[in-house]
Amino acid sequence: MSHLKKIEELKNTLKGKKGICAMSGGVDSAVAAALVHAACPDLVSVYVNTGLMRKNESAEIEKVFKKERGMNLIMVDAEERFLSRLKGVDDPNKKRMIIGEEFIRVFEEEAKKIGAVDYLVQGTILADIIESGTDKHKAIKPHHNVGGLPAVVDFKQLVEPLKDLYKPQVRELGLALGLPESIVMRQPFPGPGLGVRVIGEITKAKLDILREADFIFRDEVAAAGLDKEIWQYFAVLLSSRSVGIEDGGRSYGYTVALRAVTSTDALSAQWFKIPFDVLGKISNRITSEVKEVGRVAYDITSKPPATIEWE
Ligand code: XMP
Repeated sequence: MSHLKKIEELKNTLKGKKGICAMSGGVDSAVAAALVHAACPDLVSVYVNTGLMRKNESAEIEKVFKKERGMNLIMVDAEERFLSRLKGVDDPNKKRMIIGEEFIRVFEEEAKKIGAVDYLVQGTILADIIESGTDKHKAIKPHHNVGGLPAVVDFKQLVEPLKDLYKPQVRELGLALGLPESIVMRQPFPGPGLGVRVIGEITKAKLDILREADFIFRDEVAAAGLDKEIWQYFAVLLSSRSVGIEDGGRSYGYTVALRAVTSTDALSAQWFKIPFDVLGKISNRITSEVKEVGRVAYDITSKPPATIEWE
């Protein structure tokens, strides 16, 4: 179905109704919000900055959806709340639980301010429905998505305009709606964000170091023209530090691990062979531009036995 037809259909079914949408920054919720907004310009969208987003991510969402498309987008800055709840927590699954819970709480507070609505928009896609309907896979990690939202919003109708589409079709639809490639072609990003990429306890300082290193990595992968070939690539900040040399003296900096994998469904993945010269450039840039980092390692493990994320 063409995007214009979908918009027309939504216009007919949602005419005169009030709706709300949670935008996570991921492809699916972004396309769902843009589609429903094209039909119902009064749609209210809520984006929560958890403080666990990548460099420039929240600013880009605000620019594209609020400034350029004129969406009614509420940006909630909840960084401090998330970081204070995560203080002292180093267990990955506890971190996931706290982040998921806090997200629901923040959204609930916003939804209360808005009051009763007719419909809630969710970016559920076909793969989500298929995956949640099977018991074939043993749970390795409790993945957090915004699945708890329906319980905290006072709404009558759930609107899931992407539920019969696969990811490539969702991306096509996003482009047809005029969303930029930087949003639509985005690599998968876990719900708990950088919270599971800072190994061990999360602090603002560590998140800032990771954001810079991760940005350089992504910048160089794109500059080398590899971004379309790799399924997912990101930096991880380890909790251990290592000894190095700086200005002729001893340094004791953080270690950053780089991870890049190819995959078709994230259930299994192969480590990607980034050319050594590109890796060398990335390592030089990270250690010279991010002064807290003293060592860069490249992860050459496939899934299984490793998972894609380190936590
Ligand atoms: P793993 O690490 O399990 O990751 O091999 C498979 C895919 O899922 C993403 N991932 C998550 N996504 N919440 C999410 O929404 C999570 O807690 C989570 N953990 C991992 C990961 O980035 C990869 O794409």
